[in-house]
Amino acid sequence: MVQSKRVAVFGAGYIGLVTGACLAELGHDVTVRDIDSEKIRLLRTVGEVPIYEPGLGDLIAQNKERLTFTLDAAEAVRDAEVVYVCVDTPPTSSGDADLSRVWAVIHAIREANPQDLAVLAVKSTVPVGTGERIRTALDETGLQRIRYAANPEFTAEGTAIHDFMHPDRIVVGTSDEATARLVTELHQGVHGPVEAIDIPSAEMVKLASNALLATKIAFINEIATVCEATGADVQSVAAAVGMDHRLGPHFLRAGLGYGGSCFPKDARALRAMASNSGYPFQLLNAVISVNELQPRRALLRLKNELGTLKRRKIALLGMTFKAGTDDMREAPSTIIASRLLAEGAQVQCWDPLARSAQEAPWNAAARHPSPAEAMTGADAAIVVTEWPQLKDLDWATVRHLMSRPVLFDGRNVLDPQSMRAAGFTYMSIGRP
Ligand SMILES: NC(=O)c1ccc[n+]([C@@H]2O[C@H](COP(=O)([O-])OP(=O)(O)OC[C@H]3O[C@@H](n4cnc5c(N)ncnc54)[C@H](O)[C@@H]3O)[C@@H](O)[C@H]2O)c1
Repeated sequence: MVQSKRVAVFGAGYIGLVTGACLAELGHDVTVRDIDSEKIRLLRTVGEVPIYEPGLGDLIAQNKERLTFTLDAAEAVRDAEVVYVCVDTPPTSSGDADLSRVWAVIHAIREANPQDLAVLAVKSTVPVGTGERIRTALDETGLQRIRYAANPEFTAEGTAIHDFMHPDRIVVGTSDEATARLVTELHQGVHGPVEAIDIPSAEMVKLASNALLATKIAFINEIATVCEATGADVQSVAAAVGMDHRLGPHFLRAGLGYGGSCFPKDARALRAMASNSGYPFQLLNAVISVNELQPRRALLRLKNELGTLKRRKIALLGMTFKAGTDDMREAPSTIIASRLLAEGAQVQCWDPLARSAQEAPWNAAARHPSPAEAMTGADAAIVVTEWPQLKDLDWATVRHLMSRPVLFDGRNVLDPQSMRAAGFTYMSIGRP
């Protein structure tokens, strides 16, 4: 039997909404607070979720008795026993994480001085040492009674609800066993082991995990480049390498590089953190530059094939940083579109879910409702996101809509032989 708690979640984004909805599903009474009035307005209208995350709308609707949404920080914390911090921690110009939103939550707690608040748990990804600084700030204002927990989140967009309910591990960083027990109890009903450790280590687990995942992606992309030079096929290589139980098959997919709201920013934040303490994190430097080069390398190959990119019409198939999300943050497509426009190309794009982006480079690109329409009249098409719709496309037919049948498969999702049989000049990453 779950001991129901009153929980306030700060941040109604990808992490906050999933955390709020899943905690409500586990039986807790949850109030989600955001500063974005449009998000709160939508959430209060049953069924309207301001982000795309599979299953989230249904989960919120099913738990509507236990979920409320508010703009008012004091209302959110007034009766809370647990506060979860799920606000964004974007990069500053120095690469360090911007913690101003996290501190705004701490400020709101100090102002409200909630009497029942037992635990402040931070899910936002923060530099190591943040927990200790928050602890000091709470102590200095007489809030020693509030316990602190670093409870980093490892869910992936597109599978976040399943990941929350069936995690590989729940990392709970605290300075005492009683707090760890309280956070563990809150997760009763979640199927996964709890790793109770100290606060700085918990903060580091999140950064180290993302940096290692980014490293695997950069590594296989480097292998792909060597495959291109030597005649090996990175798909076959990755499949056989991944069968080694010491290595595992995940994140060994060559492509246009990683993007999204986490890997690029967290890799830079870890690098900045190391640099701030006088240590140059060489490996991470290499990972970041490999990833920055990856889409540019693809465009160079395309340019060689077309002779020039100037006045060429290029179709971008996919805009989001991966399939299954509407998230465009740090998507490789943005670099590709910017570079193409800078070279004087025309960009015609398609994506089934991407949010409509008004800013550059997307304000200079034409968006089409289908891959076929984006490819009409194009001199080349680039598969940027591994949307499953692309696998089922009638490629032999769409080829005839293009001015030139040049296809750059930036995610290695199509079969080279079939594409060539369909009449395409087919290029991909690390395949002969
Ligand atoms: N997106 C992911 O898949 C993911 C995975 C693991 C960890 N994280 C980490 O979780 C954190 C949140 O990420 P996200 O993707 O959900 O961000 P997001 O931008 O989607 O959501 C953050 C929300 O916090 C709100 N906010 C800002 N200041 C606030 C305040 N003072 N009070 C209440 N709400 C406030 C914003 O308006 C926004 O709606 C980040 O630190 C991120 O690194 C994200």
